[in-house]
Amino acid sequence: MRAVVYHGPGQKAWEEVPDPVIIDDTDAIVRVDVVTICGTDLHILKGDVAAVTDGRILGHEAVGTVESVGSGVKNVKVGDRVLVSCITACGACRYCRDGSYGQCLGGGGWILGHKIDGTQAEKVRVPFADTSTYAVPAGVSDEQLLMLADILPTGYEVGVLNGRVQPGDVVAVVGSGPIGLSAMMGARLFSPAHVIAIDMADSRLEAARTFGADIVINNSREDALQIVRDLTGGLGADVAIEAVGVPATFELAAQLARPGGHIANIGVHGQPVTLHLEELWIRNVTITTGLVDTYSTPTLLRLAQGHQVDTDQFITHHFTMDQFDEAYDVFARAADTGALKVILTRT
Ligand SMILES: NC(=O)c1ccc[n+]([C@@H]2O[C@H](COP(=O)([O-])OP(=O)(O)OC[C@H]3O[C@@H](n4cnc5c(N)ncnc54)[C@H](O)[C@@H]3O)[C@@H](O)[C@H]2O)c1
Ligand SMILES: [Zn+2]
Ligand SMILES: [Zn+2]
Repeated sequence: MRAVVYHGPGQKAWEEVPDPVIIDDTDAIVRVDVVTICGTDLHILKGDVAAVTDGRILGHEAVGTVESVGSGVKNVKVGDRVLVSCITACGACRYCRDGSYGQCLGGGGWILGHKIDGTQAEKVRVPFADTSTYAVPAGVSDEQLLMLADILPTGYEVGVLNGRVQPGDVVAVVGSGPIGLSAMMGARLFSPAHVIAIDMADSRLEAARTFGADIVINNSREDALQIVRDLTGGLGADVAIEAVGVPATFELAAQLARPGGHIANIGVHGQPVTLHLEELWIRNVTITTGLVDTYSTPTLLRLAQGHQVDTDQFITHHFTMDQFDEAYDVFARAADTGALKVILTRT
């Protein structure tokens, strides 16, 4: 089969590799029907994720068809259409029993396209198939469903639910990439008074309006803190969500939250960030952060099926799998190309 293989910083190729085989009896082999690229894959290609080594197949999001299953797989059958989640769950360890699958101690967590071969391939081995895949519900297309593999649960769990968004809240989201937009979409489910999108790219802010942001702020030329304070009688946002992953945006999110408010960090940070406790200690804020667990996937599947979340909006570009190089290029130049999520279909 063919797959996107990582060969060290800046190097990857769509190349011929051996087909995956069942190793453990809880594995399934899934034929990948649609797959996408994540911002995290770009981090890997920059060499930021040391655990990814030469020869690794990238990708941690897919929808596909089950080709074979190990003898221990009970719920997933050959021919089933399944969502392959970015998080693999053993289902039995202490964290999995709590629904904290991202922290799985039994060999799961974020492993696809990281510690084991991933989904940017014609086929993928999915460990713990019973607890790491989801049946495709009727009425939801493969492409729509693919948005539930990573970005939607991430924005919803690590942003909206950790941030405790409530009806009537003012929610400020710093960063309007796919993750920030997912947080806006998730926040809308709670009827907030305002959703404020903050980004430095106008193309991303235009997208944010279609995802439910009623106020957009380009913080390369506007003072986000002042605008949010003016809107809230000087108090600040009830919930400030960080969806970029650099020190400046975490510090901005921390300033944006009102006393008693929530600061929910989603961004993956590669550098130390200053926590201004000398200002925050007296403000009764709650700060949360985390890796997505995907415990909300069943809820999001029902919302997608009921058209309460419309994931089509994320999909900006279509390719076939043999166009992976072009797809990576378009996705990496998102500010110019307007890319949010690119879809690659099997040829
Ligand atoms: N916690 C998790 O489980 C988890 C899961 C997936 C992704 N992430 C992380 O979430 C973050 C966002 O992911 P994404 O795919 O949306 O990334 P992205 O790069 O597509 O979007 C980031 C956005 O931030 C904007 N931005 C950059 N600097 C800014 C600044 N100083 N002020 C305001 N906006 C700024 C960019 O213009 C861009 O639109 C990344 O750090 C990613 O690694 C976390
Ligand atoms: Zn991802
Ligand atoms: Zn586990």
